[in-house]
Amino acid sequence: MKINRKNFLKLAGLAAVGMVIKTGRAASNLPFSKSHVQKFNMHGYGAPKLDKVRIGFIGIGSRGSGTVVRLSSIEGVEVKALCDIVSERIDSTIKYLKREFPSQNPTSYSGDKDDWKEVCNREDIDLIYIATPWELHAPIAVYAMEHGKHVYTEPPVGITLEECWQVVETSERTRKHCFMGCSSAQDGMASVVLNMVRQGFFGEIIHGEGHYIHDRVSDNKVRWERDKKNNNWFGYRPWRLQENVNRNGNLYTTHGIAPVAQMMDVNYGDKMDYMVSISSNDFTMSNKMKEMAEIDNYYKPYVGLNFRGNMNTTIIRTHKGRTIMMQHDISSPRPGHRFDLISGNKGIYRARPDRISTSEEWLGQEEFNSLKEQYTPEITKKFDKIRKKAGEGHGNRSYERVTASDWRLIDCLRNGLPLEMDVYDAALYSAITPLSESSVARQGESVKIPDFTCGAWKTNERGMDISLKQGGTTNLL
Ligand SMILES: NC(=O)c1ccc[n+]([C@@H]2O[C@H](COP(=O)([O-])OP(=O)(O)OC[C@H]3O[C@@H](n4cnc5c(N)ncnc54)[C@H](O)[C@@H]3O)[C@@H](O)[C@H]2O)c1
Repeated sequence: MKINRKNFLKLAGLAAVGMVIKTGRAASNLPFSKSHVQKFNMHGYGAPKLDKVRIGFIGIGSRGSGTVVRLSSIEGVEVKALCDIVSERIDSTIKYLKREFPSQNPTSYSGDKDDWKEVCNREDIDLIYIATPWELHAPIAVYAMEHGKHVYTEPPVGITLEECWQVVETSERTRKHCFMGCSSAQDGMASVVLNMVRQGFFGEIIHGEGHYIHDRVSDNKVRWERDKKNNNWFGYRPWRLQENVNRNGNLYTTHGIAPVAQMMDVNYGDKMDYMVSISSNDFTMSNKMKEMAEIDNYYKPYVGLNFRGNMNTTIIRTHKGRTIMMQHDISSPRPGHRFDLISGNKGIYRARPDRISTSEEWLGQEEFNSLKEQYTPEITKKFDKIRKKAGEGHGNRSYERVTASDWRLIDCLRNGLPLEMDVYDAALYSAITPLSESSVARQGESVKIPDFTCGAWKTNERGMDISLKQGGTTNLL
């Protein structure tokens, strides 16, 4: 029987328990292509320089609290506002700021689910950062741009194609940046590989792979046990659990796709053309719900629901005839994986462990090390130097350690430079999710991928200035 909300409530006896779970958002509303005409090309656009970057943060949960710490340690950043529906999350972040960055004195916004609008309405804020559950990203991003703010959102920027188009249209109309924070080829080994790609080491690029494999099921109980003292704040966030109910596809594309797309010059030289997507069955989540429901009533309503297949595999073909393979699995026991492989007609790079080959054999460690040194780009050298000068400094979780992309985002805003990842990249990487849901629902049928640049990809200048021709003037504290 297909589960809809009405018979689901009956089945699970939820009315008695007094709980409601959202079951299954429609896979996607589907304007695969839209008669959008580019109003203004945000690619290559540098907004007026900002001496200070005054930020309002919305969503101070696990990721958001770490971002407040990361961005606070970049020169020129002023933390103006923190907003979350749970005030304790703001309080603990402010306590940390008072100790480590006493000059920061943000205003708290809490209590109402629409308080974020007040933050966006303020005149003394330049950038809105968003780390809420996914369904709020596009509404907040659009509202923020409409109110004159640049946006830095966690992925995805939108959960439907309509939302992805909406952020593109709004960014073009308002000329406000919309940056999506995700893994990129600005960071770590991916930056070295991008440089090798650009210098022709791998020849013509043929194929790339990037995944989001992150075991959230088997590791330990912390992910599942409710912390009743801390506002029922789970290791496994309830909203994340709900996203996995009755949606089926690649729900988190951006960390895997971004570095590969950047290595293929997607949106500035090539474009994604079409894709197919197939999911396995679920072999773990429904069992996990039964197991957890035995010890915690909270999970009872989830017993018997459709969870998305554990493994989704999506294959994309680009206009220039390259292929990209992405996998997504957060619910089976296996080590994590993101950017994984790039191969061309002269060689290949593969991650974990990092390896390079130009034939059937992998190169030896010594040769690998010397290539790594030879191809480390300017942006990585500069960022490493600045980080060393500042000392390892603040933060003890990975979420709190400044990355090259954080640093470069603020550096570009302060220098009036185009951002390294723009609204077209954000929309495209996010759109792969609804497109994959649509393909999965039709047994892997091919779907066309919209061109959010409306043809400008043919003439856009190459993005990702890893040779740091401009800027690079911002320090870390
Ligand atoms: N870039 C990365 O590596 C990375 C890592 C983790 C999470 N994320 C992303 O960050 C986002 C948040 O994830 P998380 O793990 O921090 O989740 P979380 O549940 O810990 O945090 C979300 C926060 O949003 C708050 N919130 C909900 N509704 C709100 C509203 N109306 N107004 C203000 N605040 C509201 C919640 O109270 C919570 O504190 C997600 O988009 C996730 O995908 C990115």
